[in-house]
Amino acid sequence: MSSQLDRVLIFDTTLRDGEQSPGATMNVAEKLAVAKQLARLNVDIIEAGFPFASPGDFEAVQTIAGEVGTPNGPTICGLARATKGDIEAAARAVAPAAKGRIHTFIATSDIHMQYKLKKSRAEVLAIAEEMVGYAKSFTGDVEFSPEDAGRSDPEFLYEVLERAIAAGATTLNIPDTVGYLTPSEFGDLIRGIKANVPSIDQAIISVHGHNDLGLAVANFLEAVKAGARQLECTINGIGERAGNAALEELVMALHVRRQYYNPFFGLPPESEAPLTNIHTQEIYKASRLVSNMTGMLVQPNKAIVGANAFAHESGIHQDGVLKNRLTYEIMDAQLIGLNDNQIVLGKHSGRNAFRTRLSELGHELGDQELNKAFLRFKEVADKKKEISDRDLEAIVNDEALQVAEHFKLELVQVSCGSNAQPTATVTIRMPDGEEITDASIGTGPVDAIYQAINRVVDIENDLIEYSVQSVTAGIDAMGEVTIRVRNGARIYSGHAANTDIIVASAHAYVNALNRLYTALQAGVSIHPQRDKVPAGTGV
Ligand code: KIV
Ligand code: ZN
Repeated sequence: MSSQLDRVLIFDTTLRDGEQSPGATMNVAEKLAVAKQLARLNVDIIEAGFPFASPGDFEAVQTIAGEVGTPNGPTICGLARATKGDIEAAARAVAPAAKGRIHTFIATSDIHMQYKLKKSRAEVLAIAEEMVGYAKSFTGDVEFSPEDAGRSDPEFLYEVLERAIAAGATTLNIPDTVGYLTPSEFGDLIRGIKANVPSIDQAIISVHGHNDLGLAVANFLEAVKAGARQLECTINGIGERAGNAALEELVMALHVRRQYYNPFFGLPPESEAPLTNIHTQEIYKASRLVSNMTGMLVQPNKAIVGANAFAHESGIHQDGVLKNRLTYEIMDAQLIGLNDNQIVLGKHSGRNAFRTRLSELGHELGDQELNKAFLRFKEVADKKKEISDRDLEAIVNDEALQVAEHFKLELVQVSCGSNAQPTATVTIRMPDGEEITDASIGTGPVDAIYQAINRVVDIENDLIEYSVQSVTAGIDAMGEVTIRVRNGARIYSGHAANTDIIVASAHAYVNALNRLYTALQAGVSIHPQRDKVPAGTGV
């Protein structure tokens, strides 16, 4: 079945593997906003999360299944370890979707079986078969992954895959869990599977891989040539450690170089038929949204979506591009939906214009969210004459998609200067409604603010990253502050935008503390690959 498809299926795992990146945790509303954008991008499958991880993770998958998993929408998938408890949770969470999938996995490399699972090959083989069959009792669409396939003994891998197909798996995903393989090795692995798994034609071959050596995208493209027809990827390449293969890079490689890839799909080189179903014009918006929601900034030189990806700085390039774009550009920026930040609104723009532009940008806000965002827009427009799309995004992100505000920053004041000791005063409304004011000195204005906040909000944390970026060019630009704080082994991000970067810094810190407080209240969620299966939920 797999090599008969004349395009690849895009399986987006931003909300599952992507969310496993340290500090990238999103709440239900944020995950839903990302899922809606993934649907506009037209991905084939959304892996919406790991439902067994926590009640919050379960709710996110179930909400996405209900709201985004429409008959014409994407398949909604839930991850499950090869245990009954996980599989039942995934089945219940994806049930509201018109098309639901359960993705179950168990490690097959000797090192994982010996040290992590403490199970023999025979035991793993039996569990894989039994749990695929169990998943199949809930849905016809079952995906199976032999975790760490890249380092598994190929003969054992073939046997596990054959048993998984016999038990009902319709997609076989081949993960390079630790990002170890090279492109030709990954291609050979897929070719080996096609040649040695007798029933392989009854399933789609999928690939999943990490970017530890920076090879994930190259590996996937080699796998496509060998017959893989589902690519598991994330927006901006976020994910465990060095991340996953980046969706935008895979899609644009298959688009820009389709003459090269067409023959591997049995198509004539000149065929113009798209090799993915992706609406490429939605790529840039998806990238911005995921970066905003997760606090994972995109490096300027990142392929396709980095700030410099379409910027022609040097004189010689600009001259060439003006004479003929193709001298230095292999794709048009408009293909990914980049439209030069046109200025759209100003202080006299009304609510309707504001709502219309936001919905053109993919943000459909409810009345309450729209009111909040509109008030903020007016405030910013008073200070800044021209409001660009990027400003609008920053406003929506800041106002409408906020995390639960257990702590609310009511006031921040700082005094600093060349001959002054930086001093900050803050007033914070606490979860019980009481307002507390306190002050502190610091080595600089941001340090003074953070120390003052820490005097009021007593939650242990270390600030491990602070960055400020301007949203647009110009001295009146808004500044976006992104921070990360560590509490024990977990990392939480905070994000805020304001024309005053000192105010943005204060809000970003309170935002991170709100996320941290929410997580502490909810209890820690289970990691699908590193945490042990709790007693009583196993096979
Ligand atoms: O990297 C990996 O192996 C995974 C599996 C759960 C598919 O994320
Ligand atoms: Zn992974």
